[in-house]
Formats: sequence, C-alpha cells, structure tokens
Amino acid sequence: MQLSIIRPTLPSMSEIMQLVGPSWDSGSITLGPTVKLLEEEACQRTGTKYSVALSTCTAGLMMIPGALGLPRGKEVIVPSFTFAATAQALLWNGLTPVFCDCLPETCTIDPVDIERNLSPNTGAICGVSVFGLPPDNEALLDVADRKGLPIYFDSAQGLGATYQDRPLGGFGLCEVFSMSPTKVVTAVEGGLLTTNDRALAERIRSMRDYGKDPINGEEMHHLGLSARMSELHAAVGLLSLRMMDELVKARMELIAIYRDRLSTLPGCWVQKFPSDRTTSGNYFVLFITESARASRDEVYQALRVAGIQTKRYFYPPLHEHTLFQQFPKRVSSNLRHTMKISREGLALPLYSHTTLEEINYVCMQVEQLLG
Ligand SMILES: Cc1ncc(COP(=O)(O)O)c(C=O)c1O
Repeated sequence: MQLSIIRPTLPSMSEIMQLVGPSWDSGSITLGPTVKLLEEEACQRTGTKYSVALSTCTAGLMMIPGALGLPRGKEVIVPSFTFAATAQALLWNGLTPVFCDCLPETCTIDPVDIERNLSPNTGAICGVSVFGLPPDNEALLDVADRKGLPIYFDSAQGLGATYQDRPLGGFGLCEVFSMSPTKVVTAVEGGLLTTNDRALAERIRSMRDYGKDPINGEEMHHLGLSARMSELHAAVGLLSLRMMDELVKARMELIAIYRDRLSTLPGCWVQKFPSDRTTSGNYFVLFITESARASRDEVYQALRVAGIQTKRYFYPPLHEHTLFQQFPKRVSSNLRHTMKISREGLALPLYSHTTLEEINYVCMQVEQLLG
C-alpha cells in the first residue's frame, strides 16, 4: 500500500464546471460572482461580517501588518512551533518576529510566555491554530486587551474549528485561513481573511488588487500585492466549503481511531483537545518520546519503507530555520516545550476520505514499531 500524507477531498469536475460556467463564458474570470459568493458563504460559516478571498493565506499574512499600520522595525509575537509562513510574512514587512514557547499539551502558543516577551517595541500578537486546534483565544485576547496591542490570528489550519462554541473567523482584529491542497477545505490554492472590521476588510480588499483605489481603480492607495482569487479557485473553494461539516466529521472519526490505537503505545502521546474548543482535524500528529521503543526518526524512516509518507511536523521549530538566522529576531529564553515537541511530532496520513483499511494499515505498522 502506498499512502501519501495528504490527499485533498475534491468536488467533481462537473460540479466545478457548472458553478464556474457563467463566469467562464462572460470572461469575468477573476474576482467575479463566484468569488463574491464564496466570500458571502464564508461569512455565514464563520459568523463574521466581512470576508476577503485571496490567492493564498501567506498573501493575507503579508498584507495584515500593512493594513494594521504596523511600522517597520516593530516586533510581533509568534509561536516558534508553527509553519514558516506565519513569521516569513513579518520579514517581508521589515518586522521582527519574537518566537515564543507553546503549551506542552495543546501545542499552541503559551499566553504566559507571550506576556514574558513583551517589550516597549511590541507591535502585535499573532495566535496560530496548530494542526487545526485553536490556541487559548480568551487568554491571548486578554493579554492583548490589557496591553493595548493589536492581535490577529493565523488560522491557516483552522477553518471548521470552534472556540467556546463560536466558529473561528471573528477572533481578534482578523483571522486568515488557508485553502491550499493540504487543508480540510481547499480551493486548490487560496486564502480567506475574515473580520468584523469594515475598514480593515476594505483595505485588504484593495491591497489584494495592488492597493487600487476601489472607486476609480487607477490610482494606488496602498502598498498592495497581486493576490486575487480566480473564479475557478473560488468555485472549488465554495464547493469544498459547502462540504466542510462532512469533511471535519469524517476526519474526527478517523482521528478518534488513531488516538484510540496509538496514544497508549509506550512513550507516545497526542495533542490534547480542551473542552472549550474543537479542531478542524487538519492533521493527526503522534508524539514519540525518548522513552518509546523506537525514535521518532526511526519510525519516520521505517514507515517510508512500508510505503507510508509521514512528516516531522513542525520541524525544525522556526527559530532554528536557516532563513530566520539571516534576519533580526528575538527568541524567548525558554522554548523547552517547543524544542521537545518538535523533536517528537510525526504527522501520519490523514484525509477526509481515508479508508478504514488505510488507517488500519498505518496503525498496524506503527504498532509493530512501537507496541
Ligand atoms: C500555520 C500556517 N500558516 C500559513 C500557512 C500558509 O498557507 P498558504 O499555503 O495558503 O499560503 C500554512 C500552510 O500550511 C500554515 O500551516
């Protein structure tokens, strides 16, 4: 059996063609009616007032600092245990990432370490959903509120997750989701920024189209990007969004099997799902500690030989990437949880349409190595 780590669950080509057909025929193939419909339905699904469809989540992360008016040279607090784009986007804005530790059980940014690392130069805080699980939003919003700092969320992996019974999307000043092929809801490639702040939404809407004046479209008002979403991507994204509940449900059932079979293997553990939030189920990660029968890297290699693709995730932690050595950064003096979990985490194959036979095959292989 050959299993890749991610395989998107896609709508059929005929559904896509039916949805995008009118735009295709009219020649309005980017930022047209399908993009508008996707934005409207994204607002409904996230309970937010405004949503802006983008070419990628990274484009959204790159535009947020400018839209918030963060001056170059300021610091932005981010977790070190995240995907590179969270902090890479800051470098494009001349901002300094401040890498903080995560909590040992949820793997999400530690609010206490955020507070410890604030400085007179802190410009903003960025919370991140990890494997689909939101961070402790209440604690993060509380720090931001008490310190008078802007806060936004890289919810790239979190579309479909909830916090205190509210869907992600409306927390902080804005959130940005990814719709890349590795995500639960996919537009092939795409991003969605959601917010309840009208001025912020309008600014991002202009910035995704070079920063154009929205009225005359000739003069540039803001430093923007070319980060529009095409009608074709919007059609895939919209159909995928309409499947979101089923996709998340299917993943949660599969994750339950993985957790049931693998979390009790000696020296192994899994991410905690606190009762105040739900995950989108974007990734299933098994943490293999030093006391397990085989090391994380041995399991990674052995599964590869067995035809199972896995991913050491997130690994290395961001503050250790070559890229971040070349730019100003600040690193929390205590990244012990980040260091530990990035050495232990192994993401196993998971897609919404993984079969029980496939899950069973992966579990059997892991059990043979670690049981
Ligand atoms: C936490 C996080 N942020 C940002 C991104 C970037 O998303 P995109 O590929 O849509 O730019 C990803 C993608 O995997 C991610 O996991």
